[in-house]
Amino acid sequence: MFEVLDNNGVFLAVSCESGVCGTCQTGVIDGVPDHRDVFLTDQEHASGKLVMPCCSRSKTPILELDL
Ligand code: FES
Repeated sequence: MFEVLDNNGVFLAVSCESGVCGTCQTGVIDGVPDHRDVFLTDQEHASGKLVMPCCSRSKTPILELDL
């Protein structure tokens, strides 16, 4: 997800790029994230309202982020 943003000129602050540090935490407006991080809690994963774009993906064709 981060590579798509970066390749399209969308700046997103990242640090670890592996879902550990929390730097890239981003809100989700619509769609379902495919969480690959270890930073968010299980409850936060289940809520679908936050995502770590550095390592996560989307389970839906469109994932709208609050950037
Ligand atoms: S950059 Fe560290 S969790 Fe995304």
